[in-house]
Amino acid sequence: MKPTAKKTAFITGVSSGFGYLVTKMLLEKNYFVVGTIRGGEARGREVFADQVDKINDKSLVLIDAHLDQPASLLHCIELSIQLFPQGLDVLINNAGYGLLGPIEIQDEKQIRLQFETNFFAPLLIIQKLLPLIRKKQGRILNLSSLVGFNVFPFYGTYSASKHALDSITEALHYELSEFNVQVCAIEPGGFKTKFSPNSKIGSLEHPEEKIYAKRIKNFNTFLDYVQKKIEKDPLIVAGKIVELCEAPKIPVRVRVGAEAHLNWILKKITPDQWRIRIQDWLYKRFFF
Ligand SMILES: NC(=O)c1ccc[n+]([C@@H]2O[C@H](COP(=O)([O-])OP(=O)(O)OC[C@H]3O[C@@H](n4cnc5c(N)ncnc54)[C@H](OP(=O)(O)O)[C@@H]3O)[C@@H](O)[C@H]2O)c1
Repeated sequence: MKPTAKKTAFITGVSSGFGYLVTKMLLEKNYFVVGTIRGGEARGREVFADQVDKINDKSLVLIDAHLDQPASLLHCIELSIQLFPQGLDVLINNAGYGLLGPIEIQDEKQIRLQFETNFFAPLLIIQKLLPLIRKKQGRILNLSSLVGFNVFPFYGTYSASKHALDSITEALHYELSEFNVQVCAIEPGGFKTKFSPNSKIGSLEHPEEKIYAKRIKNFNTFLDYVQKKIEKDPLIVAGKIVELCEAPKIPVRVRVGAEAHLNWILKKITPDQWRIRIQDWLYKRFFF
């Protein structure tokens, strides 16, 4: 078991993107990190080939977890609870992906899996690990998104899963501040991880797919543009997450990136009917 002096962190989805970078940064800060990864330690040893010493000395423990499979998720939580006998300083619900495209052609199973990963898994992990977090007066960081507070076409069900995560984050803040447990939703704009390449457009075999074909094509062109021209260095978000692990006092919502800030301002200062008109115009002009 790990020495008790080390700060402890549990993070989901460490194979790439923000999760991978944050894991490496926390290890540099001498944290004991438990990370979830589909493929378990075997894949973890490849991903963290330059951190094998940390895996060998058990500063980094990698647990296999498919967050959209309840049995795998529960097994992972049970293992994790045993790894933090002294309590948990930071829980980072990071893993997630985007099911994109028109709502009409997404099938129910795809939507449910999206919610399992992006909402129900973080919710269950929070419930089960809270006694350990309370013990350390620790904190919970949930990776939401700018679509966790604003709405875009073709991001509908992804956006709904992040709105749900955003909502429980704020509710937990009210419920847990009494115990000095802090909670934060991180709401980034676009950053260059595997998120965009891994994002899927729902069922292209759907009979109504053809009525959306032109807009899907234009949307894919838009996504390519976003990936090439707009997405920024993911180290910016990873650095912010690590800052939130360490800062004495943290806000309930943190936006990262220009698009997130612009969307927040639009949402806050514009009356709803005007905001929707403006967004209508922008989406027709730039998305489709
Ligand atoms: N990048 C952005 O622009 C952006 C913006 C706003 C919010 N976010 C959010 O940031 C978080 C991290 O994403 P990222 O940008 O770092 O993307 P990423 O590079 O694709 O990383 C996502 C991580 O989540 C894991 N994951 C996805 N589905 C899973 C499942 N069902 N079970 C277990 N693990 C799963 C992936 O594992 P595998 O390697 O096994 O697939 C990977 O480790 C996500 O919640 C995303 O919604 C990203």
